[in-house]
Amino acid sequence: MRKLTGYGVSPYDSLPTSPMFTYDALKKEDPKIYDALMGEMKRQKEGVELIPSENYISPAVLEVMGTVFNNKYSEGYPGKRYYGGQEYTDCVESIAIERATKLFRCEHANVQPHAGAPANVALYFALLEPGDTVMGMDLSHGGHLTHGHPVTYITKIFNFVRYKMKDVETGEIDYDEMREVALREKPKIILAGFSAYPRELDYAKMKAIADEVGAYTVADMAHIAGMIAGGALRNPFDDGFDVITTTTHKSLRGPRGGMILCRELELGRKIDKSVFPGFQGGPIMQMVAAKAVAFGEALKPEFRDYAHQIIANAKHMADVFMQSGAKLITNGTDNHLMMIDCVKSWDMTGQEAETLFDRIGITLNKNMIADDPRKPMDPSGIRFGTPAVTTRGMKEHDMKTLANFMLKAVENRGDDKVISALHDEVIEFCLRFPVPGIDS
Ligand SMILES: Cc1ncc(COP(=O)(O)O)c(C=O)c1O
Repeated sequence: MRKLTGYGVSPYDSLPTSPMFTYDALKKEDPKIYDALMGEMKRQKEGVELIPSENYISPAVLEVMGTVFNNKYSEGYPGKRYYGGQEYTDCVESIAIERATKLFRCEHANVQPHAGAPANVALYFALLEPGDTVMGMDLSHGGHLTHGHPVTYITKIFNFVRYKMKDVETGEIDYDEMREVALREKPKIILAGFSAYPRELDYAKMKAIADEVGAYTVADMAHIAGMIAGGALRNPFDDGFDVITTTTHKSLRGPRGGMILCRELELGRKIDKSVFPGFQGGPIMQMVAAKAVAFGEALKPEFRDYAHQIIANAKHMADVFMQSGAKLITNGTDNHLMMIDCVKSWDMTGQEAETLFDRIGITLNKNMIADDPRKPMDPSGIRFGTPAVTTRGMKEHDMKTLANFMLKAVENRGDDKVISALHDEVIEFCLRFPVPGIDS
């Protein structure tokens, strides 16, 4: 475990915390945890966050997460609880539901899933019988663990089949193969969604295939929910999709959590039963309240600007890398994320690139690329994206600066002096951009 002495009575005491967040009680009660928090605040302020699933929540969302809503048990749903004293919890959950359905233009929302993975498990149990088949995106082509990776328990109960990209140069999905596999395997769910795919999916084509075989259409939009909410990417409900599952903490910029949305109320009833009592116990009410606040923020016009800026920033950054000769998976991006084949681009592994960028204060993650010959813990690529830096107020020209920091690090990877000087430059650059919840 990392030793925390040296924090505390410490250089970080001078960190500018917002007047709302003085953390005085924590400092007095538990200095070790306080020290770790101060260290994390410093890390977030002085570093560039390019992990595409991370973001900075607003002071209002952060504030409600640390409230006495934590103390309340609320098993059930608004108006139908198993415990008394629900007048205020019913209020916040009803507001969260109302705002979620307005935001995504659908009839039903379940805002109780504790995270994205439990939302997907609850979804499978709502719509499937043991042994039924789900068709999802191949994991090395961008799909998520919860879409049927053999290490997950869910694969012991349901059967998963895959679709892939036809052309890794353009990222186009092989919809003909998808149809063939669907006709052969008769999936009960066709699942659109990914955590490492930089292009838009053709939801209308997937819906047509699903209709042919009588499958539900589900989009796991965990990564792109913010851009859909802000009108910068297509909403799968507009193409007739039945269900959307999502996390609330990525581009949607809410608290850590999950959510399941249904186009029609009827299916929503099945989902509700599956989330509680089927799978979870009591909802985490301070998170439900924080979801309500985040959805309220996402309904504002400024959020539309944010959503469009995320994509403009990603496209610009992708162009800078491509002009330098780097090999981007699918040769660009339509959304918030980019992936680089580091072996082909820079003759280094994804792990080596992740470590190098860490040394200059830029955080991203190593990632498998399509049909990667290397192992998941030592893959060929890196994955990075723009939701967090866009929240911090960075624009296209700042993306150029960031890409140039990274390219200079690659060029000078053997020179500790240059790397250390670059780190200083990155810190200086970062301090120009306030972090919500720390600086405001
Ligand atoms: C597409 C997708 N689904 C589900 C999840 C799981 O979310 P959580 O980590 O909140 O369980 C993720 C997380 O990265 C994801 O990218």
